[in-house]
Amino acid sequence: MTELLQTLRAGAAWAAAERIRGCSIGFVPTMGALHDGHASLIRAAAARDEVVAVSIFVNPLQFGDPSDLARYPRTLEADVALAEAAGATVVIAPEVAELYPTWPDTPATTVTTGPLGTIFEGAARPGHFDGVATVVTKLLSALRPDRAYFGEKDFQQLAVIGQVVQDLWLGIEIVGCPTRREPDGLAMSSRNVRLDAAARTQATCLSAALTAASSAYAADPTLTGAALEQVMAEVIAGGGSAVVPEYAVVVDATSLERTPGVLEPTKTRCIVTTIVGGVRLLDNAALLHPPAR
Ligand code: PAF
Repeated sequence: MTELLQTLRAGAAWAAAERIRGCSIGFVPTMGALHDGHASLIRAAAARDEVVAVSIFVNPLQFGDPSDLARYPRTLEADVALAEAAGATVVIAPEVAELYPTWPDTPATTVTTGPLGTIFEGAARPGHFDGVATVVTKLLSALRPDRAYFGEKDFQQLAVIGQVVQDLWLGIEIVGCPTRREPDGLAMSSRNVRLDAAARTQATCLSAALTAASSAYAADPTLTGAALEQVMAEVIAGGGSAVVPEYAVVVDATSLERTPGVLEPTKTRCIVTTIVGGVRLLDNAALLHPPAR
C-alpha cells in the first residue's frame, strides 16, 4: 500500500531510512493531475529501483501567470491511486508553506539556469525554468534519490535539470523516459483535458510535423536543419484554424542550440510548440525516431 506523506520533512526521513536499509531510491517529481505518461515514469522507476517516491507539488515558483496557477488541476486522491497502481512506495505531497516559508515573497535563494533556461519555453515563460530548477534542486537535496525520472516530452526541462545536476554536483542520475502518446500520436499531457473537440483533432499537427521532418530526412539525408524546420512549419501551418504556431526548431540534443546546417542525425532533436484552441502544447522527437504511437 502506498503511503501518503504530507511533508517533505517526512519524505526526507523516509528516504534516509531506506538508504540505511540499503535500498536504491527512484524519484518521480510531479505536479499531480497524473496520467498514463506519469504512470510510465513511475513504472520505469519501479523496474529499476527498490523503492519509489513520487512527489506531488504544484510549484508556484514556475508559474508566471497567477490564474494559470489557480486553475491547475488538483486531484490528490486519484493521483495517489494511480501512483500506487504504477508501483510507487510513497507519495510526498508537501504544502507551499513548507517549501517556501516566505511565499508569496520569492525565496531569497533560487537556482538560475542561464541561456538554456531562457530560450524557447523560457523566452515565452520568463522565470519558468528557474522555478523548476529551484524546486527540483530542493526536492533532490531533501530526498537524495539514486535516480530521478523525467519525461522526454518536456525536453527543454530535461536538459535544464541535467545541467543543474551537473553544475551543482548533485550526484543523482537523471533518467529521461520516452513520451507516451494517444493512439493518434498526440503526446500525453495534463493540458490535453483543456482541448475542446476541434482543438483535440487539430492537436495532432504537432506529432505529424515531427514525423514529416523525420520522413523527409530519411528520404534525403542532405536536407539541412533549416529545411526540416520549414517542413515542420508547413505541417503546423496546415494544422487548422485553432492552431497558432509558436516555434518548430531543429536543435543539438544536448545544448538545444539550433543547427540550421548539415545535421549530425544521432545528436539532433526536433522540437515543436503550438497553441491549439488556446492551449500551449509541446512535442519533440529524435530525428531518427519519429513519434511512436
Ligand atoms: O514537469 C513537471 O511536472 C514539473 O515541472 C516538475 C518537474 C515536477 C517541477 O515542478
